[in-house]
Amino acid sequence: MSEPSMLDAAMLQSNLDSILIGEKLLVFQETASTNDLAKTYFQEGAVQGLILIADRQTDGKGRFGRSWHSESEVGIYTSILLVPDLPVETLSGLPLLAGVAVVTAVNEFSHPNASLKWPNDILLNGKKLGGVLCETVRNPQGQTGVVVGIGINVNHNSFPEELRSIATSIHLEMGHPIDRQALILSLLHHLDREYQDFLIKGIAGITAKWSQHTKMFGSSITLIKGKTRIHGTALQLDEKGNLVIRTPEGNTMAFDSGEVTMES
Ligand code: BTN
Repeated sequence: MSEPSMLDAAMLQSNLDSILIGEKLLVFQETASTNDLAKTYFQEGAVQGLILIADRQTDGKGRFGRSWHSESEVGIYTSILLVPDLPVETLSGLPLLAGVAVVTAVNEFSHPNASLKWPNDILLNGKKLGGVLCETVRNPQGQTGVVVGIGINVNHNSFPEELRSIATSIHLEMGHPIDRQALILSLLHHLDREYQDFLIKGIAGITAKWSQHTKMFGSSITLIKGKTRIHGTALQLDEKGNLVIRTPEGNTMAFDSGEVTMES
């Protein structure tokens, strides 16, 4: 199937294989940020499962206040609204489960396989292929929603100079474009499955799956959290999804957030 230049909302909606997400799916040719749009929709009454997809973003947002390169018609830029009826402290499982869903879907299309860098960077051949930005939002009724924003570099032929050494796409790694709509459907299917599992089993089920898709454990890493910079060996995720690191002095420390660089 050749790569369609535009995403087809009706086709996506009718082929969606999901239970908890996707009752409503909207595709936009352009928006500033699908995350910002999803937050607005929630505040204006949208319910769990809303899926927003854009062909391009003019102000795509990444983690740590960075921008997300959102070139027209070659990437996947989507935000899914979840409203889990769970204690706030368990919501840290959502970014992990989104990472698992992305890597599982991508690996149905990509050889070599992509892997995860904690908490939810998707890497292919050592470069960044995708990322997840989860943001919480309150509606006027006092409910907390979580917007799961996902960006995947799919059919990019090239990247701007400043990203060339750190970013890649499935097209660049495979040597040919892939069907974005098929990847979106797979992504949404896996996200729905992982979310169902999470609601039943909690974070423990997710950390086990997450751990199967990473090359981090045993590697030397640097973790930056605020002004703190820690060197050590990444050991595992704990039962809360925190990253456990052993420092050169032999201490183990668990981190609930931060940015990781892998050294070897
Ligand atoms: C990261 O920095 O790794 C996270 C990137 C997340 C990008 C996606 S694209 C769709 C959604 N809308 C946004 O503005 N950001 C997320």
